Amino acid sequence: MRALLLENVHPLACSILSEAGIEVETYGGALSEDDLIAKLEDVDVLGIRSKTEVTARVLKSRPDLVAVGAFCIGTNQIDLAAATSHGIAAFNAPYSNTRSVVELAIANIIAMARRLTERDKALHEGIWDKSAEGAHEVRGRTLGIVGYGNIGSQLSVVAEMLGMQVYFYDTDDKLALGNARRCSSLDELLDHAETVTLHVDGRAGNAGIFGRDQLARMRPRSLFLNLSRGFVVDYDALRDAVVSGHVAGAAVDVFPVEPKRRGDRFDSPLRGLKNVILTPHVGGSTEEAQEDIGRFVGTKLRDYLLSGSTTLSVNLPTLVPEHSDHASRIAHIHENTPGVLARLNQVLADHDVNIGGQVLATRGHAGYAVTDTSSKLSRAMLDELRAVPETIRLRVID
Ligand SMILES: NC(=O)c1ccc[n+]([C@@H]2O[C@H](COP(=O)([O-])OP(=O)(O)OC[C@H]3O[C@@H](n4cnc5c(N)ncnc54)[C@H](O)[C@@H]3O)[C@@H](O)[C@H]2O)c1
Repeated sequence: MRALLLENVHPLACSILSEAGIEVETYGGALSEDDLIAKLEDVDVLGIRSKTEVTARVLKSRPDLVAVGAFCIGTNQIDLAAATSHGIAAFNAPYSNTRSVVELAIANIIAMARRLTERDKALHEGIWDKSAEGAHEVRGRTLGIVGYGNIGSQLSVVAEMLGMQVYFYDTDDKLALGNARRCSSLDELLDHAETVTLHVDGRAGNAGIFGRDQLARMRPRSLFLNLSRGFVVDYDALRDAVVSGHVAGAAVDVFPVEPKRRGDRFDSPLRGLKNVILTPHVGGSTEEAQEDIGRFVGTKLRDYLLSGSTTLSVNLPTLVPEHSDHASRIAHIHENTPGVLARLNQVLADHDVNIGGQVLATRGHAGYAVTDTSSKLSRAMLDELRAVPETIRLRVID
């Protein structure tokens, strides 16, 4: 087995794959479509980050590719439909940077409450501005978390450890952690919270959910954070609320339109405002998160190669086959139509192969069956399995 890891994927991923007996080649940057196609010859596993486009053309050029690991959060750069149609599993790391986002939120809350950016700026300009005016402890203050998912719920726990009283609002019925109090509407949360922080997901319906009305409903002199998605907030309205003093401070990490490259110019109505902390979408960008992404995706790729497990695959049905002492394991990806399993099993029966264990899962148009057999498999039988019309991909894991 050979793996090609691009874009400076964390070295931990290389060790995980090498220790599993997979030959690993690394490459520092991203590759263009043509260069990637040329490099993929004989490659079984491709590892990328956000800059390499894995297009339908790339996947068609190397249909024997077994898996693609996106060592990042998003998977927009991979044509997932094309990957599924070739039976290529794709994995990413959806949770690895959540703690980093939580820590930036906490840092921002304290920095705004103490007006740290103003104090810092004054001192760098040579002005000794020692004063307690407008500076507050966060202990005992109320925090309103909108979106109580992976990030919102972790933030809830850490904020309580600082002595904050947490309220949250989520459109789903989420279990309250610690002493957090659930609100039944956004308005109810806004009535309670002295600091409001958004951690909703990027569904289309969330566009503009936080605008003039919601800002006006916030308690006077409260603080506001958005580390979720840029398009959920009306930033012109936020600017007006800060300028009028209704909102005492804001921390924003995400913007509706973000520059593509490091060093590119950035513009926003929020630039230049006092006690407004702007960060370039770095909520999840820490070395710890990168290491965890390397570990997480590296492990998922290794487990898929060695056992057929598709845990947290973004495109294939989820199957976690148990460890087995049987002689051979057949991993069969197929079109999800009636009767496929019966046809597979008929081929096995025709060749007198006993099934020791079998699991099946389906997702959309794809089906995935893992079958453990107690005998070695003949080439003729495997050819027959491949010839079953619905077969997309057949792998034997010994
Ligand atoms: N700033 C960064 O660098 C960074 C890094 C990672 C994630 N994020 C973003 O943070 C956000 C949260 O990430 P997560 O992993 O916690 O997501 P998640 O899917 O685990 O949680 C989102 C929660 O928001 C809830 N929700 C959705 N719409 C809502 C609404 N209108 N009102 C109330 N609740 C709503 C959902 O039910 C869910 O519980 C995402 O938008 C993600 O893209 C940003």
